[in-house]
Amino acid sequence: MSQTIPEFDTDIFSAASVRDARAVDDRLRETAPVVKLPGEDVMMLARHEHVAAGLKDWRTFSSTSRPWHDPASVRPELLLTDDPPKHTRVRAVIADALSPKRLSHLAEAFATDAQALVESLRVRGGEVIDGVGDLTQPFVYKVLPDLLGVQQQGREHMAAFGHMVWATMGPMNTLFHEAMQATPPEVFTWADASCNRENLSPGSLGMAMYEAADEGRVTLDEAKLLVGILLSAAADTTVITLANCVRAFSEFPDQYQLLRAEPRLLRAAFEESLRWDSPSRMAGRIATRDVDIDGYTIPAGTRCGLMFAAANRDPRKWQSPDDYDIRRSNTASLGFGFGVHACVGRVLALLEAEALLGALVNRIERFEAAGAAEPWMTTVGHGPIRLPVRMHYA
Ligand code: HEM
Repeated sequence: MSQTIPEFDTDIFSAASVRDARAVDDRLRETAPVVKLPGEDVMMLARHEHVAAGLKDWRTFSSTSRPWHDPASVRPELLLTDDPPKHTRVRAVIADALSPKRLSHLAEAFATDAQALVESLRVRGGEVIDGVGDLTQPFVYKVLPDLLGVQQQGREHMAAFGHMVWATMGPMNTLFHEAMQATPPEVFTWADASCNRENLSPGSLGMAMYEAADEGRVTLDEAKLLVGILLSAAADTTVITLANCVRAFSEFPDQYQLLRAEPRLLRAAFEESLRWDSPSRMAGRIATRDVDIDGYTIPAGTRCGLMFAAANRDPRKWQSPDDYDIRRSNTASLGFGFGVHACVGRVLALLEAEALLGALVNRIERFEAAGAAEPWMTTVGHGPIRLPVRMHYA
């Protein structure tokens, strides 16, 4: 006998909830294994066991009709919104272009960019800087469009573009409309033009999508969408995970000193940041059959949200989940997703992390928080958009 799925008492996407997302999501996870959102026919799973199993079972939790899915959206409708076999065909193109072999030569250029940036901030050593706007955004917003082959002109639109795309992944509520209204038309024009073949540099990652179209592996329209996906999916996720590293370094100074002593843990420090405070709060799926979750039945056809961030703090799975511990094993982390849609850009994100965190451990003795972080006001993404911090140079 199936139990009644409880309705959560809070709008998890209101501005107040977004500001306090960790606490709200943790409370949702502890309410029941499955929870219905108030006023919406959407069910949320937030316990690690269920989120991991749901992500793995793409036949039962299909990606083809996600919650709040709007086929007319400006968001690229490809890959994340497909199941195999279409998904497999398109993913192969992007996965080839982002393979460790194809990317390994970038380490040096990334390291040079990261060192130059950290050195340029030295004059402000000891002063309050913005860990996002002065550090992680300038780094990612340079190396990513360089790699994609996007023209210099208009790159200042990256933040507004990212904010707009993330807004389209959640419900059309007040925050969604605010994000759309805050996006000037030139951002759409720039993003659209940036993904056109004639504006991408030869030999770039963006151009590789069109070369795959020349080989008949994707259509020309799909190639353009893939460039747009790379421009949006790769940017703010990495910016925020790196910013959360800086936040963690100031809140857990012993962990930062451990990292300085053992720089082989650079990637582990990034992976732990991703578990500790995941920028992907959740992703949507649709149940293709009745699914039993610990005595609660989700009816076929129900749209569901799988909550990565809450699952990454589930005390059933993680010891002291609120502690940032760079020696922790993160093989079960869902920060990059899991299953067929698991992040295809993981190798690139880790290369970027190694470069920036490597430059920081070399030059910065300690980080000091200088006020509260300002949250990113978006619904399915999460993390600091401003991070007042002092960097003390060695
Ligand atoms: C720390 C940085 C990153 C985080 C936290 C992150 C997170 C994620 C997550 C959680 C998913 C799965 C979404 C789902 O199952 O619905 C995903 C998928 C994806 N990510 Fe990332 N990502 C990051 C960096 C990147 C980068 C650098 C790229 C591109 C170069 C990228 C491209 C993609 C793409 C294309 C997908 C869709 C894969 C598919 O549907 O098969 N991501 N990412």
